[in-house]
Parts: sequence; C-alpha cells; structure tokens
Amino acid sequence: MSDKKSVHGLWSSRWVFVLAATGSAVGLGNIWRFPYITGENGGGAFVLVYLACVVLVGLPIMIAEIIVGRRGRQSPINSMRSLAAEEGLSRRWALVGAMGIVAGFLILSFYSVVAGWSISYIFSIGAGRFAGATIESAELAFEGLISSPFHLLFWHTLFLTLTVFVVGRGVQKGLEKAIKILMPILFFILLLMVFYAAFSGDFRGALQYLFKADFSKLTGDVILIAFGQAFFSLSLGMGSIMIYGAYLAKDVSIPKMALVVGGADTLVALLAGLAIFPIVFGFGLAPGQGPGLVFVSLAISFGHMPWGSFFGALFFILLSIAAWTSAISLLEPVTAWLVERFKWPRPKASAIAGGLAWFLGVGSVLSFNEWEDFVVGGRNYFEWMEFSSTTILLPLGGMFVAIFASMKLANRSVQSEFGLEHPMSYRIWKWSSTYFAPVAVALVLLEGIDLGGVVEYLHKISAENILGLPV
Ligand code: PHE
Repeated sequence: MSDKKSVHGLWSSRWVFVLAATGSAVGLGNIWRFPYITGENGGGAFVLVYLACVVLVGLPIMIAEIIVGRRGRQSPINSMRSLAAEEGLSRRWALVGAMGIVAGFLILSFYSVVAGWSISYIFSIGAGRFAGATIESAELAFEGLISSPFHLLFWHTLFLTLTVFVVGRGVQKGLEKAIKILMPILFFILLLMVFYAAFSGDFRGALQYLFKADFSKLTGDVILIAFGQAFFSLSLGMGSIMIYGAYLAKDVSIPKMALVVGGADTLVALLAGLAIFPIVFGFGLAPGQGPGLVFVSLAISFGHMPWGSFFGALFFILLSIAAWTSAISLLEPVTAWLVERFKWPRPKASAIAGGLAWFLGVGSVLSFNEWEDFVVGGRNYFEWMEFSSTTILLPLGGMFVAIFASMKLANRSVQSEFGLEHPMSYRIWKWSSTYFAPVAVALVLLEGIDLGGVVEYLHKISAENILGLPV
C-alpha cells in the first residue's frame, strides 16, 4: 500500500508534532480541571488511579489514533473510511470519525466559555482587582463575571475568534506557527509559577496532598472520573490526536511519540498541582473547592502575595494559552473534513465550524445565569455538554479506534506503521488495545455495573487473602 498524501500539508519535523500534540493535550484539563477534581476526590489516591488510566488505557489508544491518522492522512472521518475500504471492512467505520466530530463540537462549545473566564481574569487580576481580597469579595467577583451573559459572550466570542483565525491559516502557516511560539512561553510560565509557589506557599503540604495516597477515598465514582479525565486530558477519542498523526512524517516511531506526549501531559498536570496547591494551602484554604478552585481560591491567594497581581495575571495567561492550543486541535478535525468534503477554502471552513461551536456555546453561557435553573436529569446544559462528551463520547470513540487499529486493520499494515524495530512494544500494544483498553472502557461505560461494589470486593479479598485479615 502506498503512502497517501495529506492535502493539508505535514508538520515540518517530528518535534513540531510533539509540540502540537502536547499543546492539544495540555489545556484546561490539566491546569483547571485536574487540580480541582483531585481536590474533590481526596488527593493522592485519585492521582494514582489517574496515572494507571493514562498508562494502561490512554497510551495504547493514543498509539492507535496516531497509527490510523498517519495511515489515512485525512480528517478522522475520511481516514477511517478509506482505511476501512482498503481492508474490505464496512464503510460504517467512518461513523466513529463522525462521532468524534460531534464530540469535538460539544467540547469546543463549553471549553471556549471557560477559556473566556480565564482571559477575563488576566485583566481583572492584573489590574489589582483581587488585591487584599476576602473569600466573600473573590466569590462575588467570580459570580459577577459568570452571572453576566454579556461579559461571558464577549470573552467566548474573542476566544473562538482567535482559534478560528489560527486554524483558518492552515497546518504550517497557522497551527505550526502558533504552536512554535506559544508552547515555549507556556512551559516557561509554568516553571516560573512552580518556583513562585514553592518559595511563597506551602510546598510540602502540596506534595503530601498530591502524592500520599489514602485508599479509603477510592470508590467506583473516583475511578470513573479518573478514567474520563485521562481521555479528556490526553485529547483522545475525538480525532484531535488522530489528525495530528495525519500530518506526521512516515519515518517517525509512533510509540516513542506517544510516550513523550503522554508523559509531558501528565507532568504538566502534576506541575499545575504543584503551582496551585502550595498557594491555596499557604492561605489555609480548602482544596476541594470545585470548578472555582483557580478562579476563587487561587485568586484570593494571589491577592495577598508579593507581586500577586503580576503573577496572578501570568497564571491566567498560562491557562489561556494552554486552552488556545487545545481549542485549535478541537477545531482542526472538522475544519479538515469540511475542506475535504466541500473543497471550501480553509478560512471559510474554519469560520463556519467555529460559528457552529459558538452557537452551541451560547447555551453554556446561559447555564450560569438565565438558564441556571433549567435542569434536566440532574444536569444543566453546560453539565450535559461536559458529561456527554467527556464521560461518554470520548471513551466510546477511543474504544472503537483501538478495536479498529488492533483487530480490524491487517497486522502487516499496522506493524509497518509501528516500526519493526519494536517487536516487544508492538506485542504489548496489540494486547492492551485488543483486550485491555476496550474491556476497561466497556466496563466503565456500562452504567449498570456497580463499580463501587467491585472495589469493595477487591478490598475484601485482598485483606482476606493477602494480609490474612478477617473481614
Ligand atoms: N486535552 C485538552 C485539555 O486537557 C482538551 C481536549 C480534549 C482537547 C479533547 C482536544 C480534544 O484541556
């Protein structure tokens, strides 16, 4: 089978791929969501479960996505379709790509709203609005922002416009150029923030909190949340990593790339914890604040620290850049598909896709104010968007891609993507993406299964058999 050509161009080197995929993976998921859900789920034990999900399920699926992308060299829908046709499989495999596009829209629509909060905080914290803040005043400031549909719409529109702009310029002139500038800035600010936190906050407390596992906190729900977070954080299950793989040169080792990207993403999540918790603990504030962790607790702390307005603004610049490079990867798969399908020029495709995400995002904007009480099945619009995409569609999409790459594509074609110099890692990958990852996803998704009961049972048998304790 000959190597296909990408009509969208290729990354100019493997390092650009690493930067781009890391830029996709590192986002609100790492810096905003990971610390607060770690806080809500008790710290160290959650971190351990999360790491297990990344290694056992995330990495095999990431490798599968890159393989399919690089072999197909098109948008996820068309890559899946053309590979299925080559192997004489049902064309319906393209539906997995289509499901990814839907998930991408849903995520981008609410992602952009939260990214908008972050941009607005650059200005408010930078202007000293949190100097000397109390819990009440910081909460009031956050409430003030999210209760104003007008303000939220403004920032949501600005963020999406920036994203549409980059994607509209294409792979080399848009994505690559932005990523080469933004990623070094992101790493630099992140390290600076960790140093600042280490010198001015309770670093020991944060280390203990993140790395001391208290297994009594482990429940079925915790596993479910860690699982969804791993998919979200690694950008899996919707085609972002797949399309970035479509622009990757042929001679590059896919398992190595996945290890570097997965490792960098995890490192950034942990570093974000080490930038945030020391400051929050240093001020005696609680870690289990929920989504307001960085917008309220962290903001209060900055308000009392030397150079707090400066470093506070820097922190939100970091968060906004991280969100921007991720949003670019959310918009790219659908834009590429529109270009392939309708032969539209890129700027038009990107603007139309971005416009649709903007429209869907209006519901999320209103979820914090006008539609606050509009709750169906225990969730408001924003929460439905987040839940249905992150917890359902991403794992499902990832599972199908793993099955497709490991069981449906011919061994020979996958092995040639893998690189024959890795027979051992090929076997590990094959085993985990044929058996382990799909079964794990299916178990987690099967709502009926009582994971809490399973965990309790495991506790019981390990206490009985291994430790010889009566239970
Ligand atoms: N990985 C991004 C984050 O952690 C979010 C994302 C999800 C991006 C899915 C692309 C695809 O914020």
